[in-house]
Amino acid sequence: MTVKHAEVLSRILSTYPALRFEHTCDTVKFGDTEGECTGIVTSCALTIDVIRRAAERNANLIIVHEPCFYTHDDTTDWLEENRVFQQKTALLREHGMVVWRNHDHMHASKPDEIFLGVIAQLGWKEYRKTVNAPVRLYFELPETSVGELAAHLKERLHLTSGRLVGNPDARISRVAFCGHIFPSWNEKEQEATKLLSRDDVDALIAFESIEWTALGYARDAAQLGMNKAIIQPGHMVSEEPGMVYLAQKLNRLFEGQLETTFIASGDPWLSFA
Ligand SMILES: [Fe+2]
Ligand SMILES: [Fe+2]
Repeated sequence: MTVKHAEVLSRILSTYPALRFEHTCDTVKFGDTEGECTGIVTSCALTIDVIRRAAERNANLIIVHEPCFYTHDDTTDWLEENRVFQQKTALLREHGMVVWRNHDHMHASKPDEIFLGVIAQLGWKEYRKTVNAPVRLYFELPETSVGELAAHLKERLHLTSGRLVGNPDARISRVAFCGHIFPSWNEKEQEATKLLSRDDVDALIAFESIEWTALGYARDAAQLGMNKAIIQPGHMVSEEPGMVYLAQKLNRLFEGQLETTFIASGDPWLSFA
């Protein structure tokens, strides 16, 4: 029995609550959804390698969490003459791919599906605790050092290298995720610093960060001898476990009908000595 991409996508969407906002980035980024779906691949990023490996598996629906064409909204008019864009879309066309982004729905899901995957990958389910807002993900871990915590993240999230600000030997146990630390030109810029300065927070895990807000605070605090640190695994690898979770969910949803495979797009950064 064949199933069209459009039907696959509508069945996936039926598993989520309606979004509370109108403009979503969760749109079809490439391909004709009236064609037959031969298999599904989930990945964090639509890299060239992910497209090639999906084609090798004869899967022609790729579901990604992050943008495909270098801006959040994936507008492509500005890329029409761009050689990378042309070759990437030629590769998608050659293999009859359909690409759909699942970002807002996974994050709007209760609980957030991306973080379900991250917590499972880190093995931290039993350590999660609820504390006052705005901390969404807070853990009381068995006491460890900043360096050991960073090594755990490096291993579990498959980082090519680890980065931390603070004293690697500092003893810590109370860790909060703070998402991305972006400049915002308003009071939001203070949020991560306020979070790290709480008495019940020893370390932050920041997916990615500029270096002159909370990172600067963490460096000052560490140089003053305080047990405060920020570990920065990177945006893509921090969220990628969510796409492992999605693959497992879709294998249950389409059991006996379509196979879903997770393919890691991996850490975009290469380390060098
Ligand atoms: Fe993201
Ligand atoms: Fe995300």
